This record gives sequence, structure tokens and C-alpha cells, in this order.
Amino acid sequence: MSNYHIKGLEEYFQVYRKSVDNPEQFWEEIAEENFVWRKRWDEVLKWNKESHKVKWFDGAKLNITENCIDRHLYTNPDKTAILFEPNDPDESAQHITYKELHERVCKFANVLKDKGVKKGDRVCIYLPMIPELAISLLACARIGAVHSVVFAGFSATALRTRINDASCKMVITSDGSYRGAKTIDLKPIVDEALLDTPSITSVLVVKRIRSSVKMVADRDYWLQPLLEQASTDCPATIMNAEDELFILYTSGSTGMPKGMVHTTGGYMVYAAYTFKNVFQYRDQDIYWCSADIGWITGHSYIVYGPLANGATTLMYEGVPTYPDWGRFWSIIEKHQVTQFYTAPTAIRALAKEKLDFVEKYDLSSLKILGTVGEPINEEAWHWYNDNIGKKKSPIVDTWWQTETGGIMISPIPYATPTIPTFATLPLPGIQPALMDENGEELKGNQVEGRLTIKHPWPSMARTIWGNHKRYVETYFSAYKDKYFTGDGALRDATGFYRITGRVDDVIIVSGHNLGTAPIEDAINEHPAVAESAIVGFPHDIKGNALYGYVILKETGEGRDHDNLRKEINQIITERVGPIAKLDKIQFTEGLPKTRSGKIMRRILRKIASGETSKLGDISTLLNPEVVEKIIDNTIKS
Ligand code: PRX
Repeated sequence: MSNYHIKGLEEYFQVYRKSVDNPEQFWEEIAEENFVWRKRWDEVLKWNKESHKVKWFDGAKLNITENCIDRHLYTNPDKTAILFEPNDPDESAQHITYKELHERVCKFANVLKDKGVKKGDRVCIYLPMIPELAISLLACARIGAVHSVVFAGFSATALRTRINDASCKMVITSDGSYRGAKTIDLKPIVDEALLDTPSITSVLVVKRIRSSVKMVADRDYWLQPLLEQASTDCPATIMNAEDELFILYTSGSTGMPKGMVHTTGGYMVYAAYTFKNVFQYRDQDIYWCSADIGWITGHSYIVYGPLANGATTLMYEGVPTYPDWGRFWSIIEKHQVTQFYTAPTAIRALAKEKLDFVEKYDLSSLKILGTVGEPINEEAWHWYNDNIGKKKSPIVDTWWQTETGGIMISPIPYATPTIPTFATLPLPGIQPALMDENGEELKGNQVEGRLTIKHPWPSMARTIWGNHKRYVETYFSAYKDKYFTGDGALRDATGFYRITGRVDDVIIVSGHNLGTAPIEDAINEHPAVAESAIVGFPHDIKGNALYGYVILKETGEGRDHDNLRKEINQIITERVGPIAKLDKIQFTEGLPKTRSGKIMRRILRKIASGETSKLGDISTLLNPEVVEKIIDNTIKS
């Protein structure tokens, strides 16, 4: 029996038991047998329950790129590491072998060094889904720089906030990106962001769409000429297991986005281990995750997890709709994809189109399908299972978070069963606990509560960049010694988990985590707005869409409401990004508040979802009379 690769249900139960009975021994064996370390650890786990500081494999030395690239040069140098499918189906796909990847990462790392980037410096990456994105992550890791990828759909303000929070030294970007039939200029967004970012000393620009861009002297450099001059020799900087590997921002229910900090050794072990098991990766497989590397899914399951296993990982530049709704399926046929991992929102959008788009293509190469990012509804699950997997490919509904670094609850194909809408069972090493309203653990089955994790796992985020206090408050203050996920879940009669959704003010729109506070702050910047509250409501494709309740100042009264709606969405686009635009905006005279002045979002959520008969007792509100008025003016379609 191998702890590293689980192949059957009985084996899963045995391995799981071992991982709970003796977590340290379990992870020690996995780490020892499957990775290259320059020095062994002194201790497997250090867990300080007072300070909430956790260390895995402390004292060990390694470089993650030696595990993701160099070691495969001895066994499989000519295997494709990254298979790049461009936006334009007529542009050739690129097969980047492990050998080539090694050269390109080394050259890139030498350019970083040349521009003064050193171990521990933060580098912000704002790039579309082109090979340079994956390569830039690895180049940072090669020299011990901490990467902070910002999704290239975010606005200049969002980018600036993230650059400043981590005091990044450099930005890596491109002239622009292709998205279907459109091109998007990225460099001007970076230029705007950099108007007030004192820590930035240089910008590297990849040429992709060949648009003309302004280059600032002594700050901005085209990447290609620098790469041409760079050496292919760049020895890996040896890191401590607990040195930071990257920062990735995620929305909280309030305040600034949280810069989740992931460290090197534990993250590598867990991302690789879960990739191997959840996707049952075999040597000849062509694995494709359609997420953007700007999210944690891309970090762990396009870049680090697959490469640490010597896999071929496909990267697609474009959108599912270009040149038509069959693009995903055409890519699967073209490259004989064996594992396909995507988001429920994409499945729902594709399921709305004619089946002809699917049936044109031979999808028989597929073995395993995956979903991530939000609960998958039963209808979408069946559509995926019937039409894409042809009922022969297990669907792994993988539950996890930016904070967890890797998949936590998921079926293991051909071992654990799959059930629509259930993430099923925890992976080895993961000890979930459901909590009731009084903070007591709900034992036994057929229970529903708040999802927590009882024991540290190797890839958990170690802190929030620059704010450990907030980390402790957000994740460890609700329940003693337990990590609180912010999600609700139920455990059914057989012990399988189903995630029921967020229990805080985070709303998941099209699989993107959005905190209400930054969006409300943006709305409130409109000169005619006095106050606002946003909530989610069910949406056919996006899962949730945003509904905004806005109180106008006197100056706003009598103004054209349609125009105001446009202006509000414009501000949101500028401050947060287009993904946070509101679907519905209702102008109202008041918002339901508790006697202590807190907005009762629960009531607003129910109204926005059309569940006005389930409002519960509103008599304790400070202003119950506003509820009736809000209901009367609800925007229906
Ligand atoms: O609410 C859960 C939901 O997405 C949240 C985490 O979002 P993020 O940090 O952006 O990471 C997304 C990719 C890992 C969770 O707290 N979520 C994620 N996967 C699932 C899910 N909800 C239900 N089922 C899932 N499979």
C-alpha cells in the first residue's frame, strides 16, 4: 500500500485512519518518499495554540522549483510540462518540455536578479494566461522572491492596494491580453496603479498583443530582449521550508483584501499529494484546469501540484465562448485531455447552449471531471456527468479555499463514491468538525453546522501578510483551537459532507469571492450616495448575483435612476473590477437595522431572493417600517 497514491476505498480508509491517528508520521513519510530536500527537517509539525503559529517541516531546506522542474530533467526531459493553447484556435499550441521550462525559468530568474530582485522581495504579477505567467511564478520561486499574483481582470485601484499592502518591488505585466474577439490593454492599468506605489522600482512587460504602450524610462523594460541576453544557468536558491513562497489576496467580509501567506515545504507537499490523488494522475495523462492562475486553483492545480508530479498541464489563454460555445470541448478533443477541472458557473453557462456544441467533439479521452469554487447544483452536475463525462468519468466536487492552499474535501476517483452536490469525504490529513450555534462540536451523522478543521495540515496559510492579529481573529477566534472556514456544511447519514455555502458576508459570484465591504465602500464614493448594502441572490449561471440597496443623499433625489445605476457600476468597475458589478440596484429610503445600528443583511438577502414570506420576526428592528417599503419596490427582473 502506498500512502502517496490511493487507489481504492479500503485503502482510503486505512490511509485516512493513519493520517488522523498519527498526522506527523503520516506527513513525514509522504514528504520523505516523494520529494527532494536539500536538508531534512528537525521537526515535522510545530503547533503553537496560543499564537496560532504553525510550522511544517521546520529546519528543512529545499527549492520548490527543483521539485517541480529539475528532478524531472533526469527522468523525462522531453515530456511536455506546459501545453499552451492560445486564444486564437488558428495560432499553434505550444508544447513546453521540462527541459525548455527549466531554461525559460532560469533565464527569467536571471532577469529578476539583474533588476535587483532578491530573496524575500515581493514581486507582483499581473499577466494574462500566457506561458510567461506560469514561468514568472517559478522564476520568483527559483530565487526565493515571494510572488503576489493579481488576477488581470482587477482594476488599477485593486492592483495598487495589493502592491502597496505587500510593498512589492517589481510588477510583471504585458502590453495586453486576448479575450475571445477582444483585446484588453493591461499596461495602462498598471501605469495608473503605479501612480502611487513607492516600493516599485521596475516593471517587466511581456509583448503579447503588440499594442503600442508607453514605457517609463528607467522603470519599464520589455521582457523579451532581456531574456535573450540572460543565461540559462540559475542555481536554485535554497529556502527554508517555512520561507514564504507566495502571497495571494482573498476577500474578507470586511476591510482590505487579506494577503494569505503560503510557505514553501508544506504547501508543496500538500499541493502535490492532493493533485496526485484527486486527479489520479498517470504518466501519459493530459491534465487541464481551466481556472486562471490569478486564483489559488491555478497556483496549486495548474502550476505547482501538476509540475511537482511531472505532469503535463494545459493552460488555455481564452474564454469558453470563443470562437463559439464548443471551444472547451474542441480543446479536449484536440489535446486528448484526460482530466478536466472547471467551475460550476462555466458548466451552467455551457449547459444553456445547444448540445450540438458538445456532440461535435470526441470526448472519449476524458477519465475524470472536476469542479471547484462554489456549490454545484444538481442539474449542472447531471449535465456535466451525462454530456461531458458520458456517465463514465467520476466527478470530483472539490471543496477548499485560498486559505487552505489545497483541496480539503473531495472524492478520490475510483475509491470514494461521488454523489451530486456532495464534496463527500475529507482527504487524508484533514479533520473536519461541524459546530453548532453554541460553539459545541456536532458529533455523529445527519448534522448541519459551521465547518471547521481541527488539526493543522501542511498547506494551510500561515498568516495574513503584515497582520497576524487579523489572521487569528478571522480564522481562530470563533472556535477554540479550530480553523473556521466561513462555510456551512452538513454531514449526511453516511458521513458524507455537503457544503451549503458561506455563512458570512462573502458572496461567491461566478466562482469569485467577493466581500461586501469593498463594494459598498466603492458605491458610497458616489457623490449622490448616502449609504448602501449589497447582498447575493440566486442566479441561473453565476450561482449568485449582486443586489444593491442604495440610499441617496438629498442631492441625488430627482436624478435619473438609470443613469445613477450606470455610474454606480462604473465606480465599482474602477475600484474593484467588472466582476463586482451589481445586477440590480434598488434605491431606498432606509435599510433595516438592529438597535445597535447593524444592517440586517439576512432580511435584505431574503427580499432580494423573493423569499418575503420567510423574513422571520422583524419587530426587534430599529426601523421595521422600512421593510414593507423595500418589499414594495423590489426589482424583480
Ligand atoms: O464557500 C466556499 C467556496 O469557495 C470558497 C473559497 O473561495 P476561494 O478562496 O476563492 O477559493 C476557491 C477555489 C478553491 C469556500 O469558502 N467553495 C469552494 N469550493 C467549493 C465551494 N463551495 C461548495 N463546493 C465546493 N466544491
